[in-house]
Amino acid sequence: MRRLLVASLVAAGLAGAFAHSAATDTTGLRRRKTIGFGPVLPNAYYRAGPNIVQKSFVGGPADPLEVANQFISSITLTTPASSTFRIRKDSYTDKNTGITHVYARQYLNGIEVADGDISVNVKGGKVISYGDSFYRGEEEVGFGSSTPVDPHSEYCQQLAAELSRRAEARQSLYSSGEQVVLGGRPAQTSDEGILSELYEWNCAHVETPFKMTSEGKLSTKEDEMYSEQALLQFMIAATPNSGLAQSIIENPSTFIEKMRVTPVHDFSGDNAAPSFVIDNVPDAVSPVKAKMAFVQVPSDESTTLQPVWKFEVEMQDNWYEAAVSVMPPHRIISVVDWASDSPLPVAPIPKKPDASSATYNVFRWGVNDPAVGERTIEKENFDSLASPAGWHSLPYDNDPASNHVKGKKTSVKFRNTTETWGNNVFAHENWQGGNSWVTNYRPDAGKSLSFDFKYDPKETNKTEAMDEAKKYINATITQLFYTGNMIHDLYYRYGFDEVAGNFQQHNFGRGGEEDDAVIMNAQDGSGFNNANFMTPPDGQNGRCRMYLWNTANPYRDGDLEAGIVIHEYSHGLSTRLTGGPANSGCLGWGESGGMGEGWGDFLATTIRSNKTYSDYAMGAWAANRDTGIRNFVYSLNETINPSTYKTLDKPGYWGVHAIGEVWAEILWVVSYELINKHGFSDSLFPPLPDADGTVPEGDFYRPQEYTLTGEKKPLVPKHGNSLIFQLVLNGMKLQPCRPSFFDARDAIIAADQALTGGENFCELWNGFSKRGLGPKAKVEGRTPWGGGIRTDDFTSHRKCLSDDIPEPDPVPEPTPGDGDEDDDGDDDDWPWVY
Ligand SMILES: *[C@@H]1O[C@H](CO)[C@@H](O)[C@H](O)[C@H]1NC(C)=O
Ligand SMILES: *[C@@H]1O[C@H](CO)[C@@H](O)[C@H](O)[C@H]1NC(C)=O
Ligand SMILES: *[C@@H]1O[C@H](CO)[C@@H](O)[C@H](O)[C@H]1NC(C)=O
Ligand SMILES: *[C@@H]1O[C@H](CO)[C@@H](O)[C@H](O)[C@H]1NC(C)=O
Ligand SMILES: *[C@@H]1O[C@H](CO)[C@@H](O)[C@H](O)[C@H]1NC(C)=O
Repeated sequence: MRRLLVASLVAAGLAGAFAHSAATDTTGLRRRKTIGFGPVLPNAYYRAGPNIVQKSFVGGPADPLEVANQFISSITLTTPASSTFRIRKDSYTDKNTGITHVYARQYLNGIEVADGDISVNVKGGKVISYGDSFYRGEEEVGFGSSTPVDPHSEYCQQLAAELSRRAEARQSLYSSGEQVVLGGRPAQTSDEGILSELYEWNCAHVETPFKMTSEGKLSTKEDEMYSEQALLQFMIAATPNSGLAQSIIENPSTFIEKMRVTPVHDFSGDNAAPSFVIDNVPDAVSPVKAKMAFVQVPSDESTTLQPVWKFEVEMQDNWYEAAVSVMPPHRIISVVDWASDSPLPVAPIPKKPDASSATYNVFRWGVNDPAVGERTIEKENFDSLASPAGWHSLPYDNDPASNHVKGKKTSVKFRNTTETWGNNVFAHENWQGGNSWVTNYRPDAGKSLSFDFKYDPKETNKTEAMDEAKKYINATITQLFYTGNMIHDLYYRYGFDEVAGNFQQHNFGRGGEEDDAVIMNAQDGSGFNNANFMTPPDGQNGRCRMYLWNTANPYRDGDLEAGIVIHEYSHGLSTRLTGGPANSGCLGWGESGGMGEGWGDFLATTIRSNKTYSDYAMGAWAANRDTGIRNFVYSLNETINPSTYKTLDKPGYWGVHAIGEVWAEILWVVSYELINKHGFSDSLFPPLPDADGTVPEGDFYRPQEYTLTGEKKPLVPKHGNSLIFQLVLNGMKLQPCRPSFFDARDAIIAADQALTGGENFCELWNGFSKRGLGPKAKVEGRTPWGGGIRTDDFTSHRKCLSDDIPEPDPVPEPTPGDGDEDDDGDDDDWPWVY
């Protein structure tokens, strides 16, 4: 069967359905347009487990990069003769688990295959799991004779067909009572309303490249590079300004004349492909990076190559990575919206005396929103591992407010600030809704560092509602700054550190790329009733926009609901951890994009939960709706939340938020298997390290264990909630680029194998199978929006069934490149059979 394309909405916004309902809103505020689609590669696969890969490496090299190097060589024998690979420099070793995460990119004749990725996880000289999407077809045939593949048209045809099916199904959907009513408005009643918006955004210009070429508006000369033409074609599809799109279509040459193309010469000679920056691109807010590359296009069970321009386009509301075919007509092959220096020598880190810590009047960590508790005075709870210089201190050389040139480092002199401005987070108002942020208003607490501001919103008439919210801007920015820093510190302690691609201006000589604290906009004027996060690759600032919610009077401020801020920040986490810090294109659409949403819900819910079990809703306070903004609250009770893997087939589950909701629910159920076994820790924060940097076990970690050779084994969280938190983050590091639900499940099980020796194998399988994701779960005929026909498997792994005496199975031979076999979920493919 021919697997075509999978695509979906990729807005990293919080509220899929809710945001769409705002379309009918009378606020007159625009909604963020986003496009995103691309092929699912039939040749991509992921394998985890001790048996698959180790045999050829007995007595192999000790250096994990060399292990990975040899391993990749051994599984890429069937690639074309001109195929080479390079180990990316964002590969790293996890400090706690000791696993080295190695990322390789494929090149053909020195030109990058932009979606040819291998990620290999190495521990103790052995490969423990790996994902592979390398191209294994014919030797490429050159740029001049590009094959006329057109995934974009195919995608749009399928979407159109689905639209008409949904329109027919509308009546039954209404009568089945599945609709969700938000604030008195039917929100998810008509899939086709949302689907047609997806169609409008992604497909409005699917024919335009053909028309422009046939009308002779574009050059087709043999000897041109066509980067500007290809980019304009992308901008026509991407711009939310239809007038601008029309002008480009009518007169592309006036835009091309204004563009300035500057070649970028790669000193190392690493890159055979031409590479440019392009200035004066209509609707882009910074020069566009352009590089020639290949991408793969599905062709039956394998792929063919398409020469493309790979663009990185920063716009007001989007940050795109797009692949557009080099030759006219310039087709968009894939597009991901990211909206969702060498380290300095180790510098002396100023140790902050306790007395100089800031204080904040906030809803403290764990108080999800104003409905749950009161504000209290909290201390700057910086964690000396995660934030050695505290939250209000950063080197002049990394300070966007100082005159230093970005990337040019002279010394490491720290500036102490008295504003919501520091090494991890820049927080400020953004009522204008634009892109400027450095000089936006933020509170200054002065010498006292006491961020104690009034929050006392009153009911007003509609015209005054906005002004009323502005009155407590100091309090809301303070809250956003506090929550953002707490998340930074918490995730750091679970391994989202500098080498893993975290968000910091200065990295304290601990590796990774710098100058990428999170820019956090409070009360952002570009929307209502939502939030979003843009995640460019490591070394570029993440951007989080929080909105007001006009769901109540007085308005509710999303900045004050920790779950929303955590959900957004977690886009940064999952995007940077999946496929490596330098690759932001791994969670773009379909199941991968959905899990990008789901992790945020799961982590936010786990953070707010306490010892006494309770069900939780997402965004309930902001949305002024007890059951929140998802279809169901997160619950162990199958009547209250019936989601299973197969739920993804239902109407209404084509979008990333609905897919994510199912994933978060599955993880919630899995987490309680571990909590029932290991108990519950009141705090998810590990103890602070001692003066010498050693982390005490406290009641948090199990007693430190040592290997036979006297080396420390990884620290293992003692309790169920902290353990699943750790396994979920470690799983993100282990899973491949563009993971499926199966891949992410297998990666969590592999993470447990690496951390505890697999002692929770059955609890994890039991949890996954409770929601249909058992070993025999499968998916057939996936559709372009993450749909398809799925089969639930409610039976746990056979090793975990008490009445089943497992027979030893033959170890399956690794058969790299033979397609995504694991995806059929067949038990025989599961490598953990002994
Ligand atoms: C910043 O604060 C730290 C600790 O409070 C102090 O040691 C340092 O001298 C301060 N730096 C400046 C430039 O004032
Ligand atoms: C915010 O705090 C500043 C002090 O940092 C104060 O001058 C200002 O009046 C406050 N603004 C509002 C709206 O309360
Ligand atoms: C809203 O309230 C303000 C202040 O109370 C008042 O000046 C204004 O006229 C009111 N506007 C409307 C539309 O009622
Ligand atoms: C635990 O959370 C529930 C629900 O949010 C809340 O009602 C309860 O008071 C909390 N218990 C403790 C001990 O904080
Ligand atoms: C699950 O929820 C339903 C509906 O609220 C309730 O009737 C049932 O008793 C619950 N089941 C359990 C095991 O708590």
